[in-house]
Formats: sequence, structure tokens, C-alpha cells
Amino acid sequence: MNMTLHTLNQEALGALLAQLGREAMAHRFRVAPNPCVGAAVLAGGEVVAKGFHERWGGPHAEIEALAAAEASGVPPQEWDTLVVTLEPCSTHGKTPPCVEAIVAAGIRTVVVGALDPNPLHRGRGLRFLEAAGLTVHVIQGFSRLEEICPYFLRWTSDERVRRPRPWVIAKWAQTMTGQMSPPEEVGEGRWISSPESLEQVLHLRSQVDAIVTGVGTVLHDDPRLTVRLPAKTDHPPARIVLDAWLRTPTDCNLFAPPAPGEVAGPVTILCLPGSNPVRWRALEAAGAQVEAVRGEDRMHLRLLDVQTYLWQAGHRRVLLEAGPTLLRNYLEGGMVDQIRLVTGPVRGGSGPSLADWLREARLKQTEMGECGPDSVLDAFLSVDF
Ligand SMILES: NC(=O)c1ccc[n+]([C@@H]2O[C@H](COP(=O)([O-])OP(=O)(O)OC[C@H]3O[C@@H](n4cnc5c(N)ncnc54)[C@H](OP(=O)(O)O)[C@@H]3O)[C@@H](O)[C@H]2O)c1
Repeated sequence: MNMTLHTLNQEALGALLAQLGREAMAHRFRVAPNPCVGAAVLAGGEVVAKGFHERWGGPHAEIEALAAAEASGVPPQEWDTLVVTLEPCSTHGKTPPCVEAIVAAGIRTVVVGALDPNPLHRGRGLRFLEAAGLTVHVIQGFSRLEEICPYFLRWTSDERVRRPRPWVIAKWAQTMTGQMSPPEEVGEGRWISSPESLEQVLHLRSQVDAIVTGVGTVLHDDPRLTVRLPAKTDHPPARIVLDAWLRTPTDCNLFAPPAPGEVAGPVTILCLPGSNPVRWRALEAAGAQVEAVRGEDRMHLRLLDVQTYLWQAGHRRVLLEAGPTLLRNYLEGGMVDQIRLVTGPVRGGSGPSLADWLREARLKQTEMGECGPDSVLDAFLSVDF
């Protein structure tokens, strides 16, 4: 007997899908370019547990909902229906296929709010479930991807797939007047944001494949670009320095051994072909991989070629932690998909500001928040792929 059809009408399921979609959106900046998805396990028409895709590379919503149902104390024999805003995946990605977990859980009915937009995957998950004997209902219009995760539709569009490049998150800090460097007497002339925001950055680093910076930041700030406690990861992000003329010092902190509780990804330095071979060898001896990228753009590295390099190296989600020179070129080149802007409670400061760029930027799904004493703006950019 199909309990769902007896106990829940289409309207109630639609309302549940809409609610799951709204709640899933709270995680959008942590999962992009993956879609934000919500799922619920039902027993006799009642919601037993909900789950959401909460971080990039982490468990999908269906898996989280099944785990929460397990923890709820309601016996699995009573779970009859799984409601999910997007068709469950049927392929091995960063996680195993959700359809297998749904079948293994003994669920009999699956209600789906939207089909997978990728033509290669569309309908595959549903066919797998039906072949395993489950009943599948598609109720479209309540958890529309255009509203919940339009960035995902652009990311899976033919245009983007034809020109592959990583998803780029630009993160920077500014003073209250928009400067990217604090006054000399504040934060050793380097830190604008609070320890709370710096901790958030460590978590963000743990959820990307690579961190990109410019040699200007290496020379001025000497950053480590590592993941440190309380953030953790088994896959520390690669550290990539854009350094056309190999000015990176061989004794900089990027080459320091990680401290206890710290993990450090490999260092790659991207330069122009024909850069000084002595510097090249010295940086390799210090522990870096040095790679030449083809193009040149007003004497800097050409960012389109950098993006191609990153994609070909397998980096899909990338964090840009750079100074104003590289940041502006990335932003104005239309190569940033998502921003995180932290404004610290610091007056004045020096150096260039990106305030003019911000005034004109086409920000989408903007969210304002607080982190300690800092204000934080997260947003997607309307990028034309
Ligand atoms: N507030 C923040 O969030 C934040 C973050 C980081 C740094 N900073 C501050 O920024 C200052 C350093 O600024 P910066 O602008 O020199 O640092 P940057 O933007 O990190 O590095 C700039 C350098 O990157 C290299 N580069 C390679 N390809 C490039 C391209 N296509 N476009 C632009 N640059 C390219 C260039 O050197 P080559 O031509 O030699 O390759 C360029 O001089 C420091 O004061 C630091 O404290 C602030």
C-alpha cells in the first residue's frame, strides 16, 4: 500500500517541497557550484527527519535525511517516503550514488521536485529507483531550480560545459572606508578582519581544491595558506601563486613545514615561459612545482590561461585570496562566481579600494551577516559563461 498517496495530497507535498527548497538555500554559498538540495523522510505522512546538502563535497541531502531518520528513533520499517527537491544522483561523484542508499533504506516511494538539468543524468536516478521497484512521483513547480539555485543551472549550461573552468570564490577584507590594507598600527599592517572571520576562512579553505594568490601578497604578507584547527581536511587545497617573473622568495612561509594541527597543500608557482632558470630551479629545490602558462596580459599572466591550467589540474572549486591587483583583474575579467567580502571595524587604511567595482557589480542572492565584530557579504555574481 502506498501510504503517501493515502495520507498526503499533492498540495501538502508541494508545500513540503517548497519549504525544503527554502531551507536548503541557507547552505548555497557553502555548496556552490553544486545545487543546494533538501530532503525529508516520511512515515505515515509525518516528517520523521530532514537533511540538506550542507557543504561542497559533503553528503547529499538524501543521505543526511536518512541519517537523521536513523537518529530519530522511528524504526526504518516505518519510513515509507522520501521527498527531495532534486532528482537523486545515480553516479559516483565525490560521494556514492544516493539512489543506492535510498533503496537500501527500504523506502518505497520517492517524491521529487525537479529533474536533474544535466541531459546526461536527467531521469537516470528515477529509472534506477523504478527498476528497483520503488514508486516515483515528480511534482514540479514547488522547488524550482531557477529560484533555489539558478547558479547551478548556469554551471550545467552547454555554454559553460563547452568552456570548462573552475568555480572561483573571491574572498577579501576591507576597512570601513573600503581599503584593503589597514593602517600600519592595526593588525601588524596586515589584518583587517577579526579572529572569528579568520577562523571562517580556515573552514572555507578546507572546502576548496585550490587557493590562488598573487606574488604581491606573498611578498607583503608572507601567508601560509594552510588549513589549521579548528578546520580540518584530508585533502588540503593546492596553493597556487601567480608570479610571472618568479619573485616568490625561497624562504617564504609557503615552504615552511606544517605545524601540529595544520595541513598544507602542494605549492605551484605559475610563471611566464622563459622565466629565469636559476630562480626556477631554486624554487623547485624549495619544494614548489613551477609551471609556465602560455599567455601574457599587460605583462601579467593571462587569467584565461590560468583558469584553463586550474581546470586541467583537476581544481573545480577555487578560493582566490589575493591583493587588489589580481583581485580586480579576476573580477573585471568576469572570472569570479561568488564573493565573500568581510568589512572589519577598522577606520582608514591604505591602498586601492574595490568600492567602485562593488557599486557596479551584478550581485545575486546577496546575504548580509555578521562574524564577530565584522560584517560579511556573501553573493553570487551574474557571470556570463
Ligand atoms: N584585504 C585583503 O583581503 C588582502 C588580501 C591579500 C592581500 N592584501 C594586501 O594587498 C597588498 C598586496 O597587493 P598586490 O595587489 O600586490 O597583491 P596581489 O594582487 O596578490 O599580487 C599582485 C601580483 O600578482 C601577479 N600577477 C600575475 N598575474 C596577474 C594578473 N593576471 N593580474 C594581476 N596580477 C597578476 C603580478 O605580479 P607579476 O606580474 O610579477 O606576476 C602582480 O603584481 C598587501 O598590502 C596585502 O596586505 C589584502
